[in-house]
Amino acid sequence: MARPHVLIIHGPNLQLLGSRQPQWYGRNSLASIDRQLRGIAKARGADVTIVQSNHEGNIVELIGKAGRSYQALLINPAAYTHTSVAIRDAIEASGIPAVEVHLSNIYAREAFRHQSLIAPVCRGQISGLGEASYRLGLEAAIELAQTAGLPRKTRGASSRPVRRKKNMA
Ligand code: DQA
Repeated sequence: MARPHVLIIHGPNLQLLGSRQPQWYGRNSLASIDRQLRGIAKARGADVTIVQSNHEGNIVELIGKAGRSYQALLINPAAYTHTSVAIRDAIEASGIPAVEVHLSNIYAREAFRHQSLIAPVCRGQISGLGEASYRLGLEAAIELAQTAGLPRKTRGASSRPVRRKKNMA
């Protein structure tokens, strides 16, 4: 099987990690998170392309072209999580499996952060585990990327109907 390639997008203000509200986002820089993600990708035999952008249109364009080169998307949409129909539509149109991650637990914060417009078009969301959200999210994205090119029938247990044994009692 070809090496899976995952596109990782960090949304607005995440370039400030390390100094930005460490009570929510920790003390490590974005560069140190990226190093961890590259290490995981290497260990799993996958490639990653990592982009940080503060511009909604830029993120929409990246996702719009992603279907040609990537088999999965890992995204922390940051503040756009709560506002961007455009990013949501781009993910949906791309057809590639996406995983949404957040460093902080968005459900434990202000009410306006409780809604993600992005989550419904993602395969899953990991929120509140700090850097581990990214690490676990990447593991999931690589797994999704590995099965993205396979025919539905061979995609693994979750796509097969569950056969229940008859109750023997
Ligand atoms: C965030 C949560 C968002 O609500 C916030 O706007 C961010 C970061 C997180 O990773 O916890 O910028 O996505």
